[in-house]
Amino acid sequence: AAADPALIEAGEKVFRKCASCHKVGDDAKHAVGPALNGVVGRTIATAEGFKYSKPLAELGAGGGIWDAAALHAFLEDPKGFAAGTKMSFAGLKKPEDRDAVIAYLSTFAD
Ligand code: HEM
Repeated sequence: AAADPALIEAGEKVFRKCASCHKVGDDAKHAVGPALNGVVGRTIATAEGFKYSKPLAELGAGGGIWDAAALHAFLEDPKGFAAGTKMSFAGLKKPEDRDAVIAYLSTFAD
């Protein structure tokens, strides 16, 4: 189902916390973090041309998918989800912020 436009708009604001490291949209390039087009529903750590940490790469090699549950867990506590991840971000503690940013990310296809 298509996400609620108000939720997507809220997610665009939440994404300001991510935008120092991540780009989305046409011509988005990898930066400190990988470009996030198409990440929702994709295998973990598989954006072409980005060098991931070993722990995140291993989650992907093990078949992990960025479904809503995995994204919630990672975005709430990146190092709790993947000890040793190089994503230096404290996390989004509010579930509604995570829902919103996931809805926003889901609007960007590969
Ligand atoms: C990885 C989302 C904030 C740096 C990722 C991935 C997602 C994500 C979904 C996995 C990508 C994949 O598997 O292809 C977000 C969101 C953020 C955020 C939604 C804000 C709420 C940040 C910030 C930084 C950062 C602020 C830099 C200080 C990274 C890095 C990776 C990564 C370096 C690769 C991690 C690794 O290889 O272990 N991020 N991120 N992210 N992010 Fe973020």
